[in-house]
Amino acid sequence: MASAPAIRAEHITKRYGRIVALSDLSLDVASGVFGFLGPNGAGKTTAIKVLLGLTRPTSGGGAILGEGFGTKAALRRIGYLPELFRYQSWLAAREVLALHCELAGIERARWSAEIDRILAIVGLADRGASRVGTFSKGMQQRLGLGVALLGDPQVVLLDEPTSALDPVGRHDVREIIRALRERGAVVFLNSHLLTEVEQVCDSVAIVDRGKVVAQGTLADLLRTSSVRIRASGLTREGRAALARFGELDDAADGAILIRGIEMEGIPDAVASAVASGARVYAVEPQHESLEERFLRLLGQ
Ligand SMILES: Nc1ncnc2c1ncn2[C@@H]1O[C@H](COP(=O)(O)OP(=O)(O)OP(=O)(O)O)[C@@H](O)[C@H]1O
Ligand SMILES: [Mg+2]
Repeated sequence: MASAPAIRAEHITKRYGRIVALSDLSLDVASGVFGFLGPNGAGKTTAIKVLLGLTRPTSGGGAILGEGFGTKAALRRIGYLPELFRYQSWLAAREVLALHCELAGIERARWSAEIDRILAIVGLADRGASRVGTFSKGMQQRLGLGVALLGDPQVVLLDEPTSALDPVGRHDVREIIRALRERGAVVFLNSHLLTEVEQVCDSVAIVDRGKVVAQGTLADLLRTSSVRIRASGLTREGRAALARFGELDDAADGAILIRGIEMEGIPDAVASAVASGARVYAVEPQHESLEERFLRLLGQ
């Protein structure tokens, strides 16, 4: 099924008793890095568990590389880094990887080379013989990422891959994710770290209490911005005219802020202020960061 998207979810709803962990999630990821973004408890881990077949959706369905969730055919081509995991503390890192080589069905003759390759990718080349119990949190997370990358899977699901990492580790993981994209793998990245998502993702969905509140390419999501307008003589009618373009706010210095305005709307907003009799001294558009957009969406 060459034409099947790497990841397809269709109207997935997952309830746990009265809690709606996911509500009508639909998405298609054909290529690149997809960021699934949301606050604690939003439903991110639930989404990954459904994609893996670890939990059944209450309704809805979908496929990974054209294969049903949780089928052997799908799982063979997926790498997965769980959110909370613990490897046997008495095993050496190489032994953990060997165990997963076996689980992944990699030919025994290739294990040693594959383990060397993975240890180098995740920055543990000199710690392969160390026992997991002696690893720091960040080193364990690197090892977990290594397990997800064994055997070059086509789809990689990462549930908060950098939560335990220092800035260098985060940078390393970004590089690993970029390398995955370059070799054509599709990455599904759960995160609540907005700058991280902003730096590596091609497209994103923002989820809040189970519901997707925005979805699209990063460029789509950041098409809006805010603009500071300094004007005098702005009447009530003038303000009302401006409020049609976005959310109004008064800055401490007396300027007016319009948040969530589209770039193309700025000249019209200024024209409407002028038409209402105001005198406009300055118009300063400001790029909206993903964080600002995120907070605005969750605030609504
Ligand atoms: N096995 C379960 N039984 C009951 N409720 C669950 C179960 N798993 C998840 N939930 C609930 O579903 C909701 C979504 O949880 P989920 O773990 O998907 O959130 P998350 O976005 O991954 O959060 P975090 O950022 O904290 O990891 C929460 O309200 C959670 O309590
Ligand atoms: Mg989670």
